[in-house]
Amino acid sequence: MAQQLDAKWRVALITGANKGISFEIAKALAEKGAIALIGARKPQAGIEAADTLKAEGWAADPVVIDITDEASVVAAALQIGKQFGKLDILVNNAGISVERGREPSESDVGLMRQTYETNVFGVVAVINAMLPLLRKSDAGRIVNISSGLGSFALRAGPDAPLSHMRALAYNSSKTALNALTANYANELEGTPIKINSANPGLCATDLTHGNGRPASEGAVPAVELALAGVDGPNGGFFGDQGAVPW
Ligand SMILES: NC(=O)c1ccc[n+]([C@@H]2O[C@H](COP(=O)([O-])OP(=O)(O)OC[C@H]3O[C@@H](n4cnc5c(N)ncnc54)[C@H](OP(=O)(O)O)[C@@H]3O)[C@@H](O)[C@H]2O)c1
Repeated sequence: MAQQLDAKWRVALITGANKGISFEIAKALAEKGAIALIGARKPQAGIEAADTLKAEGWAADPVVIDITDEASVVAAALQIGKQFGKLDILVNNAGISVERGREPSESDVGLMRQTYETNVFGVVAVINAMLPLLRKSDAGRIVNISSGLGSFALRAGPDAPLSHMRALAYNSSKTALNALTANYANELEGTPIKINSANPGLCATDLTHGNGRPASEGAVPAVELALAGVDGPNGGFFGDQGAVPW
């Protein structure tokens, strides 16, 4: 990505940052000088993750946020507003995968609802609550952590490279997340705020039962988008090889 903003003292909220890819995103942003707000639904997990970064000399604070609980989301926005008066970076990372390996015809509607509550509706709640704070930034950046599994181009048709990956709830929730990116981008066009989807690729985390590359590598596209300069993209989908097909 061409230009990158100076991260120094930029205030960054990363949801679900107590572990996995998002902890690595928070760490990378903090290492570049940002204040990493570690969003976590379990208060103690957030404190411990923030303490880990602080012990390495970086600026980090925990923020309790369960993205499926509107009161928790609003409280987090109030806390950030009181403490910093603005938000420069929002990384919507918190996500779940609770149904794997089943054919669509065997999918459980309850599990699908649960997935969408977090991966889609929760993201809308967080963006809408944080937008007033992002509008106070000189260059607000929103990054939605998506997946190649949400790409029509990579999944549709028998020859598509990811057509064998079965998980209707998760895959379609990431397609919906990409649709959120495109829709918010249209609204935010012409403002200092940019919103994009990032594809971390398969990373070894609890979500994948440890399969994949190191989470620190999967964090790279999101960190670049979080610091994209004024000439950076709005409404795109990017991985570490550049643009990902929708
Ligand atoms: N790993 C991969 O290969 C891969 C590939 C493509 C995309 N992704 C995406 O990357 C993101 C991070 O995944 P990961 O692999 O790092 O998974 P992970 O290690 O399981 O971490 C998920 C994080 O989300 C949090 N979370 C879940 N529900 C939440 C809620 N309602 N409110 C707040 N936080 C919540 C979890 O908190 P708790 O600790 O409290 O459970 C945890 O901190 C997800 O959006 C995932 O879909 C992952």
